[in-house]
Order: sequence, then structure tokens, then C-alpha cells
Amino acid sequence: MGCGVKEDKTTAPGGRKYFELIVFLFLLNIISFVVPITGFALKTCRISYNIAICVRNDLRAVPRDIPSTVEAFDLSSNKISRIQESDFKHLPVLTQLDLNRNYISQIESGAFANLTSLKRLNLNNNKLTELGEDLFHGLSNLTELRIMSNHIKAVASTSFKSMTRLKLLDISHNKLQHITKVHSIIQHLPHLRELYIKNNNLTTFHSWELTNSSLELKYVDLSQNPISVFSVTADVFPNLTWFNIGGSPRKQLMKWDVRNKTFLSRVSTLDISGLQMTFDDIKSLLETVNSSLTSLRMNAMKQHLPALINISCSIPTMSTLQLRYNKLRFVSSGLFKLCINVTELDLTENKIRNIHDSAFRSLQRLRILSLSHNRLSSVPAATRNLPTLGELDLSSNNISKLGCDDFTNQTMLRQLSLYQNSVSALSECVFKDLIRLQVLKLQTNRISNLNGAFQKYFPKLTKLYLNKNELMAIKQGEFRGLQSLQNLSLHENKIDTLENGCFIGLTNLTDILLQKNHIKENELNKGVFNDLINLRRLDLRDNCIKYNSSSALPYAPFSQLFRLETLAIPLQHCKGKSHLPRNFLQGLTNLLVFNARNIQLLSLHKDMFNYTPQLQTLDISSNELMDLSPELFSPIQNLQSLYVSRTSLRSLNYLTDANLTKLQFLQARKNQYSVISEEIIQSLPALVYVDLQGNSFTCGCDNAWLLKWIVNNNQTQVFDAYNFECNYPVNLKGKKLLDLSIQSCSVDIEFIYFISTTCTILLSMVVSFTYHFLRWHLAYAYYLFLAFLFDTKHKNKQAPNQYDAFISYNTHDEPWVIRELLPKLEGEQGWRLCLHHRDFEPGKPIVDNITDAIYGSRKTICVISRRYLDSEWCSREIQVAR
Ligand SMILES: *[C@@H]1O[C@H](CO)[C@@H](O)[C@H](O)[C@H]1NC(C)=O
Ligand SMILES: *[C@@H]1O[C@H](CO)[C@@H](O)[C@H](O)[C@H]1NC(C)=O
Ligand SMILES: *[C@@H]1O[C@H](CO)[C@@H](O)[C@H](O)[C@H]1NC(C)=O
Ligand SMILES: *[C@@H]1O[C@H](CO)[C@@H](O)[C@H](O)[C@H]1NC(C)=O
Ligand SMILES: *[C@@H]1O[C@H](CO)[C@@H](O)[C@H](O)[C@H]1NC(C)=O
Ligand SMILES: *[C@@H]1O[C@H](CO)[C@@H](O)[C@H](O)[C@H]1NC(C)=O
Ligand SMILES: *[C@@H]1O[C@H](CO)[C@@H](O)[C@H](O)[C@H]1NC(C)=O
Repeated sequence: MGCGVKEDKTTAPGGRKYFELIVFLFLLNIISFVVPITGFALKTCRISYNIAICVRNDLRAVPRDIPSTVEAFDLSSNKISRIQESDFKHLPVLTQLDLNRNYISQIESGAFANLTSLKRLNLNNNKLTELGEDLFHGLSNLTELRIMSNHIKAVASTSFKSMTRLKLLDISHNKLQHITKVHSIIQHLPHLRELYIKNNNLTTFHSWELTNSSLELKYVDLSQNPISVFSVTADVFPNLTWFNIGGSPRKQLMKWDVRNKTFLSRVSTLDISGLQMTFDDIKSLLETVNSSLTSLRMNAMKQHLPALINISCSIPTMSTLQLRYNKLRFVSSGLFKLCINVTELDLTENKIRNIHDSAFRSLQRLRILSLSHNRLSSVPAATRNLPTLGELDLSSNNISKLGCDDFTNQTMLRQLSLYQNSVSALSECVFKDLIRLQVLKLQTNRISNLNGAFQKYFPKLTKLYLNKNELMAIKQGEFRGLQSLQNLSLHENKIDTLENGCFIGLTNLTDILLQKNHIKENELNKGVFNDLINLRRLDLRDNCIKYNSSSALPYAPFSQLFRLETLAIPLQHCKGKSHLPRNFLQGLTNLLVFNARNIQLLSLHKDMFNYTPQLQTLDISSNELMDLSPELFSPIQNLQSLYVSRTSLRSLNYLTDANLTKLQFLQARKNQYSVISEEIIQSLPALVYVDLQGNSFTCGCDNAWLLKWIVNNNQTQVFDAYNFECNYPVNLKGKKLLDLSIQSCSVDIEFIYFISTTCTILLSMVVSFTYHFLRWHLAYAYYLFLAFLFDTKHKNKQAPNQYDAFISYNTHDEPWVIRELLPKLEGEQGWRLCLHHRDFEPGKPIVDNITDAIYGSRKTICVISRRYLDSEWCSREIQVAR
């Protein structure tokens, strides 16, 4: 290619689009870096078993950082006053939503539109006054709606339209006032089974206002409405089995107008508590249920009680009678004389002091009798000779003494409750006939001596409650007669002595509660637990078990309890530092949970857990531990939950070497941890929940990794992370850790990727620009560089010049050069000229030819013409010459 060949200057057709594409990619790169990634540290709530729990947080709005995978959302007891349309948009799999106890007065329409999976919604105790048209739009799968205790007056006729699957509606304690509003609700609910409209100030009930919309209703609560006329002229509740029509808030008699006795003839449970009607009306009410009634509640009746008992006991199917809050003082011999079919009688919450000895004589089928919350001072003789009695509840009376005949002949009794009385002592004979007793509740009395009551007679007893009494010692063989006992509650007594062999015979015992007594460590050393070979759970909290060295005990206290799963030994009121003997847990090969919280522990021996390979939960919080050996954890690789709150430990570094690959839950509140390193977290691959509340964090680059992890990881929930505070450096004290800017710290991979892609893109833009617009200038620069090299190479050689002059000219000027210039200079002057068409070496690169020619000539002569100036090659020749 000679000097002067015409070059193509048009831009490639695709060039502009290419440029736009690059700019777009560049912006995209920036955007993807800026968009925040939602993390797993929630601002106010926590997630537990896929339930978002935000209870009692003073929230004023629904939090938006709940992961969209949660299935239940509990927002109860907050201060939310308004539900916005977008509040629940992102929770498509939610099945349960609890908004109980807020200040909600407004719900934007469509707020629930995306909750198509929702099954239960609780809006109880809010301030709603009306239910607007599209309020519940979208809740097509809802089965349960609770909207009790609001101020609802108005209901739009279409507001319940979409809830076709609703089975339960509780709209009690509102102000509906008219049954037509109830109708406008339930007409859209073909599958409604339970309807609660208690206390809505309804004044009338006419069946024609309901039509036949309530075909599937089984449960209806109309109680506490001042209904003046209850009029049923059609069978509007053909499937009703549970009906509450009790209690009017006003002193006004309700008129009963049910034309056909078959209309309520399937009701089996009827509650007429506090109902004010004439005796004749109640009678005709009871007549309508004469063949179906099984359970009747007549609590807090104002009048006619004996007559009502008589008439209701004439219903042969009626077996359960509840008569609470009736201010009965005395039960006469005739009160229940007609109740021969009653099997369950509930006289709770009366003022009964005396019961006639033959008051229950007719109740020959009675199985359950409750006399709790009365004023009895002894076990009434009337309770004997009930041949089928299985449960007797005498709790919360004033019984102070139990006699040997009190439970005579109660051979069928399975459950006896005597708690909350003032019994001070038992005797050997009290329970002698209770051969079938399974559960005995004697808690909260003043029993200080068992007097051998449990040494015989109780072959079937499985649960014995003796907590909250005044026992001081457990004597040898005290529970010898309780071979079937499984649960024994002895907590909150004053026990300080456990005699040798005190648990003899309790071979089937699985749970023993001994917390809050005065047991000391020397009581354990005697092997008192050796008889409890089936024990699963032993609670010794809040006693005073304390050792002053960690050297091995001569006799390990739990060495025979190889089935024990849970052991708790925390203390509360017991001063002084302590240690745990290194063989304290010897024998507990199946221990799953060990709770040693708050025992003023100074150290833990590294061999402590060698005996408990199954351990899953370990709580050593609230101790003064300064140091933990990583070896402590090597025998307990199954650990799933670890509590190490409130210790004097300065870091979690002992976890890095502990190999706790199964640890899921870590609670380490209120420690002095300032930095949580990546190694610690990486060493816990199964961690799903970590609670680091109340630590004093360093707000610097040391925690940059932690910060990023809290926000970005999607496996581990970091409880309360948004409230973590800085403690160091001093100028950041009190600031929130998550507000810290870590940009300056993070030379992280992502950032490097970002920078390098950005640079690559920029570079390719520059290259493409240059290629399109400055291609030839680059070529010059390249050749200039070559010339420079050549120059330096030839400077030293001082080679003799081959030509006198090199002629640089444009091809178009060639005729002139050959015809005019050449004869003049070569012919007349005798110069040796170098001409490119004549003297350039064929095959050699043009550029080399040019440079060789120029360097081989003493002078360069340029034939300057317009064409010459236009030509790229020619201007290059000038450049090279210069
Ligand atoms: C509604 O519930 C049914 C049965 O529980 C389920 O199969 C269906 O997918 C649910 N619909 C929606 C939209 O979640
Ligand atoms: C009510 O009953 C009438 C006739 O008995 C029937 O035509 C109508 O479809 C029923 N309505 C409902 C909602 O079941
Ligand atoms: C119920 O029916 C029985 C006969 O089966 C009768 O003796 C009794 O008086 C009726 N009771 C009421 C409340 O109607
Ligand atoms: C216990 O039952 C027997 C026989 O059924 C009877 O003779 C005895 O009087 C009863 N004892 C008491 C205290 O009622
Ligand atoms: C102890 O428990 C086992 C299994 O629960 C049971 O088979 C056995 O009968 C019980 N022993 C007594 C004396 O109740
Ligand atoms: C942790 O596990 C590794 C290999 O699984 C083992 O080499 C190391 O000794 C273990 N460390 C402890 C403290 O058990
Ligand atoms: C969690 O993050 C990991 C890696 O960052 C990713 O592979 C995984 O898909 C994420 N899981 C979910 C449920 O987002």
C-alpha cells in the first residue's frame, strides 16, 4: 500500500448500538450493587418454628422485614392503629394472623387480598367500628374469624362475600344491635358452623329475619343480649347442637315464642345461665330439648333454682349439670332427688358450708362431682356411698383435717383434688380405700408430716402433688406403697433432709420435682436417688447444692440414673462461689439436658461431660466462668442448644475448636464480647438462631464481617440485631452497630468483582472509542515508536549514507517527479536519490522501507501538494523524517 491510498472513514453501522449496550451494562452493574439484600436479622420480631413473633413490642405499624416464608404472624398486644394495603402483600403462605389487642380502627381495603392461604384471623380487642365492603377480600380460605370486643355497628352487605369457607365467626361484644345485620353476614357463609354473637345489644330475635342461611350451624351463642322476644317460626337451625341463650344484661324478661317443639330438638348442650324468663317459658324451652339434651348449664340463676333442677332432671338424657355461681349455702336432701341420670355435677363457686348426708343419695350414677371454691370445712359425708364416683374435686375450701372415714368405700375414685385447703397433717388410714386412685392433688396445703399415708394402699397412683406444703424431711420408705407412681411434685416445701432410702419403692417414677427446697449437697452424696432407676427428669433448682472444688467425689450422686434425660441444678438464694466435681455427672449416659444456670460456678473441669455423650442442651448461663476449654465440648458433639449468657467470658473463641457441628441455638446475652469473628460463626454450620443481646460490641472493622453476615446470611436468625450497641470506640458509644458504615473496611470479594468488571467495561469502551475515532493516530504513535527505536539503534553505527536525498511524494505527483525533478537533481547535480517506486526493497514492510530510506539519506525532500497533505502515508513520511 503506497502513500496516498484512500482509506474508509465511515463508522461501522453497529457501532452506536454497541456503545449503548456497554453503557446499559455498566449501569446495571451499579444497580445490582446498590439494591439492598434482605437479611435475616429482624428489626423487632423473631422467628420461631416459622412463626413470626412480634408480641408486646409497642409496634405502631406492621413490620415489613418478615420473611415471606412464615406461616404464622403474631402481632398481638401492640399499638397498631391502621392496617395498610401493603402490610401483608408479601406473605402468600401465611395461614394464621393474630392482631388481637391493638388499636386498629382502620383497615385499608384489599389489605388481606394476598392472604389466600390464611385460615385463621384474630382481630379481637381492637377499635373497629364498621366492616367495609372489600375489607376481607381475598380471604377465600379463611375458616376462622375472631373479631370480638370491637365497636362494630355497621357491616357492609358484601364484606363477608369472599369468605365462603368460613366455619367459625366470633363477633361477640360488639354493637350490631339488630339481627338483620347478623343475617347480612351469615347469608354469605354457607359452611358456617360456629357463630358467637354474645353481647351485641340485640333486642329481638325473629327467625324470619334469618331465612334458611344458617343450615350448617352447630354452635350458636346469643347470650347477654337484651332480647325481649325470641321468636322462631321456622326451622332455621336444623343442625344446632350447642346453644347459649343465657344472661341478659337488663332486668327484663325474655318472651319465648317457639311454635314448634321440633325446632331446637337437636340441641344437646344448652346454656341458660342467668336467663330471665317466666318459669313457664323456661319449662317450654326445656320441653323442646327433652329428647336431645345431655348437658345443661344453669349458672348464676336469679330464681326458681330448685324447681329448675327438678324439671331439668326429668329429661332422661340429661347427664351433665353445671350449677356455678348460684350462691347455694346448703345442699338439702331433696335438691337432687330427681337427678338419677346425672353423671356429672358441678357445684363450683357457690357458698356451700353444709351438705345433707343424703343429698346425693339419688345420684347413683354420678362419676364426677366438683365442690371446689366453696366453704366446706371437712369432707362431706354425702360424698361417700357414691358407688360410681371417679372424680371428686374438693379444692379451694376450708378443709383443715382429714379423717380416717372421709374416703371410706371410695374404691372407684380415680382422681381426688384437695389442693388449696388448710390440711396440716395426713395419717396412715386416710386414703386406705382408694385402691384405684391415679391422681392425688394435695398441693398448697400446710402438710408438714405425711405420717405414713403413702406407705401402703396406692397400687394405681401415678401422679402425686405435694408441692407448696411445709414438709421438712422425707423419711425412709415414705413412698414405699407407690409402685406405679410416675410423677412426684415436692417442690416449694422446706425439705432439708432426704433420709437414706427415702425414695424406696418408686421404681416407676419418671419425674421428680424438688426445686425450691433447702437441700444441700451432702444430702445427695448418700445415694438417695439410687432407687429411682426409671427417672427421666430431676429438678433440683433453687436448693443449695454447692461444692468448693472440682476434684472427684468419692460417690457420684446420680451414678444409678442411667435413664435420666433432664437434670437442673440452678440456685437462687445461696451465697458463695462454687465448683462442680469433675465426676458430678457420672452415670448419666442418657442425659439430654443439663441446666447449671446461676450456680456461681467459677470453672468447669474439661472432663465434666465425658459421662454424657448424648447431651443436646447445655445451660451454663449466669455463672462467673472466665474461661472454657474447647476440650470441654469434645465429648458432646450432639449439642444442639447452648446457653452461655451472663458469664465473664470475653469471647466465643472456645467454640472455634469445639467442633459443634450440630449446634442450632446459641444464647450468649450480656457478655463482654466485643468482636465476633468469622471463624466462630463458620465453625457452627448448623446454627439457625443466635442471641447476642446486650454485648458490648466494638464498632470498627473487626466486626465488619459480623455486620455483613447479620444482614446477608439467610440461615441464621440474629435475635434483636438492630438493637446491638457500640461500646468502643468511645466516640461511637451508644450508636447502633448496624448503623455503622463499613464501606471503608470491606475490601471484599464482591467489591473487587465490582471494581474489576467496571474497569473491564470502561476499558472496552475506551478501546472501542479509540478504535473508531483514533485508529490512525494510534498507528502513527506505533510507528513513531518504531522510528525512535530505529533511531537509537542507528545512532551508534554511524553508517555511511547510501543516498543523498529521499524523495517523499504522493503517487499523484509521480509524473512530475520523474519528468521534472529526477533529471534535474540526478542528471544535472549528480545526486543519488531514493524513490519509493524504484528503490524500496520488495517484500520488506513499507514502514521499514520508509525508515531505512530516510535514515539511509542525508536529506529528505518532500514534494508538498494538496494530495500529499490529504494522504495518511505521506504525512507519516513527514513525521518519520522529522
Ligand atoms: C386453600 O386450602 C386448600 C385446602 O387446605 C388448599 O388446597 C388450597 O391450595 C388453598 N388455596 C390457596 C389459594 O392457598
Ligand atoms: C332457602 O330455602 C328455599 C326454599 O326452601 C330455597 O329455594 C333457597 O335456595 C334456600 N336458600 C338457601 C340460601 O339455602
Ligand atoms: C321429658 O319427657 C319425659 C317423658 O319422656 C317426661 O316425663 C318429662 O316431664 C319431660 N320433661 C320436660 C322438661 O319436658
Ligand atoms: C361402706 O360400704 C359398706 C358395704 O357396702 C357399708 O356397710 C359401710 O357402711 C360403708 N361405710 C361407710 C362409712 O359408709
Ligand atoms: C411400671 O411401668 C411399666 C411401663 O410403664 C409398666 O409396665 C409396669 O406395670 C409399671 N409397674 C407398676 C408396678 O405399675
Ligand atoms: C475436631 O474435629 C477434627 C476432625 O474432625 C479433629 O481432628 C479435632 O481433634 C476435633 N477437635 C476437638 C476439640 O474435638
Ligand atoms: C441462602 O444463601 C445461599 C448462599 O448464599 C444460597 O445458595 C441459598 O439458595 C439461599 N437460600 C435461600 C432460601 O435463599
